[in-house]
Amino acid sequence: MFDPKTAFNELPKLPPAVDLESKVILKADARAGAALAELKGFSELLPDKQLLIDSIVLQEAKGSSEIENIVTTNDELFKGLAMEENQSPQVKEVLNYRRALWEGVRLLEEMGLLTTNIMVKIQEQIEHNRAGIRKLPGTNLKNESTGEIIYTPPDNESIIRDLLANLEQFLNVDDDGLSPLIKMAAAHFQFESIHPFYNGNGRTGRIINVLYLTMKGLLDSPILYMSKGIIRRKSDYYRLFRELRKNNNWEECILYVLSIVEETSKGTLALVRQISESIENTAELLKKKSPKIYTRELVEIIFKKPYIRINDLVAGKIASRNIASNYLKRIVTLKVLKPVKIGRDVLYENIPLKNVLKNA
Ligand SMILES: Nc1ncnc2c1ncn2[C@@H]1O[C@H](COP(=O)(O)OP(=O)(O)OP(=O)(O)O)[C@@H](O)[C@H]1O
Ligand SMILES: [Mg+2]
Repeated sequence: MFDPKTAFNELPKLPPAVDLESKVILKADARAGAALAELKGFSELLPDKQLLIDSIVLQEAKGSSEIENIVTTNDELFKGLAMEENQSPQVKEVLNYRRALWEGVRLLEEMGLLTTNIMVKIQEQIEHNRAGIRKLPGTNLKNESTGEIIYTPPDNESIIRDLLANLEQFLNVDDDGLSPLIKMAAAHFQFESIHPFYNGNGRTGRIINVLYLTMKGLLDSPILYMSKGIIRRKSDYYRLFRELRKNNNWEECILYVLSIVEETSKGTLALVRQISESIENTAELLKKKSPKIYTRELVEIIFKKPYIRINDLVAGKIASRNIASNYLKRIVTLKVLKPVKIGRDVLYENIPLKNVLKNA
């Protein structure tokens, strides 16, 4: 019997004992898969694939951290990204999430498999501590307003490790013929139910989702802004977890994730399209008004992030410091960039890019 106040060491292993290929699930899977493929297709066409990653990854980092109530404004965050110092604790948390995601991408490339070890390393980056997998009992999930305990995850280290090994097997061995999106959905609810860490389980779980999509080749880079969808339907997210233990509603959980994937693939595609339109418009403007300084590389560098510095141009081998500074001043007169003084630093705000991201 499931009791929310007792460690759930009987958590069943994957795959769930229900039909994961019901008609409704397969239909939703097809829709989500198509939307995701369109996003992947469009981003492959971009001249510089690296271009949009930071802007979108940062949106995801912000969104995912917001679920944990680490609220930062876009603006604070973008400035934080440009400065890398004097950051507020909230900005640091979000940038930790971004670093954790990139660390995950790197480790996945190195290992080729999504392992327990990678999950531990991601969580380590998010929380900036080495507490690792839970060894002590006492972790539980409470209703924030009433304080009532709604779930107590397994509390025995060897059981937790065993469940993670099962999850690892489920994610990496495809002898079940299930679609990757359906597997990602099941794995997400299972990972959160195992709740292997003292904290950061939600954020680690959401990073695992995008890493899994890149591992399966459904995305080239981790550019799906899924947390936005979860924030919009946050009460469903928590409700589904609670019901999973009471009535094994796996189908609803899978459908929830699939619809988030569909919705956010479309939203992210729209965002990517708008950013790439902004890049083209800016390139045209520069060609026309400042043909002497125009190069494609210059335009792409100023679209790498919402705030840039002279150093970014120097590092990108566009020009020496003095010339780069003149280029940026010239672009300011075209009202594409706006100088913002922070302490002794001058950042250049990319007005069109920031407008696109603001409405994202
Ligand atoms: N009843 C539940 N059973 C299992 N997991 C749950 C339940 N309710 C929520 N969760 C998961 O637990 C996460 C919160 O756990 P934790 O605080 O360790 O993660 P976090 O990353 O610090 O926080 P957050 O997910 O709020 O950003 C939620 O995001 C969700 O994924
Ligand atoms: Mg937390």
